[in-house]
Amino acid sequence: MKIFVPILFLFIGITSFISYNNSPYEKSEAIIKDTLMNDREKYLTFLKDSLKGKETLPADSVFKNIQTLKGKSTEQVLSIMNNWGHALGVSCKFCHEVNNWASEKSRNHLRTREMVIMNDALNKDLLANMKGFRQPITMGCISCHNEMKEPTHDGPRPQRARPRPEGGAQKPGGSNN
Ligand code: HEC
Ligand code: HEC
Repeated sequence: MKIFVPILFLFIGITSFISYNNSPYEKSEAIIKDTLMNDREKYLTFLKDSLKGKETLPADSVFKNIQTLKGKSTEQVLSIMNNWGHALGVSCKFCHEVNNWASEKSRNHLRTREMVIMNDALNKDLLANMKGFRQPITMGCISCHNEMKEPTHDGPRPQRARPRPEGGAQKPGGSNN
């Protein structure tokens, strides 16, 4: 019985040491997410204020460079922007030059357009035709990205650096992040 007491203290000591060590990490994760949300909110509020009265107009009549989101309203485009940011765990700057929203300079702006085309085809051409499942089945950015920039690859990551494709969707001088 006597041996039980020191063991109990040792146990309490170890568990409190572990939880003390874990908590700062968890806190900083939470702060990072919160800052991104606030950052996106800051740009959205600014845009919403400057576009008052135009919320229901077609986005391509208000913005300069709408291609993949043709047919959406201005407010729908802004809420899609926030969803994309959330799905990838990023702020607007990941895909935009924030002083020039129409700019395509960021690689991720163009990559996103390719992703939207892929995602639409996935839903319309593949998932909708799967007979063994309850329909509708739909996937969005969040299904693969799950708040990460790059979803987990199938199998081991390629060992060598993968060369960037020439031309195509990527323009020379585009930011590389
Ligand atoms: C994952 C990449 C991505 C993120 C994150 C993102 N955007 Fe976009 N954004 C795009 C793409 C791509 C387009 C062009 C859509 C199209 O072709 O229809 C666009 C278009 C826009 C436009 C229209 C620009 C114009 O003049 O044509 C605005 C405004 C905009 N985004 C604001 C935002 C804001 C604000 C945020 C953050 C809350 C944000 N975006 C987050 C990729 C992104
Ligand atoms: C079926 C799964 C899937 C869906 C759905 C999907 N993505 Fe992706 N996405 C990927 C994969 C895989 C990569 C990584 C490619 C690589 O390894 O370079 C990626 C990469 C990206 C990148 C480049 C990120 C980087 O750091 O290189 C952007 C931007 C992106 N996706 C945006 C989107 C958006 C926006 C949507 C929703 C419209 C979307 N994706 C939907 C699988 C998906």
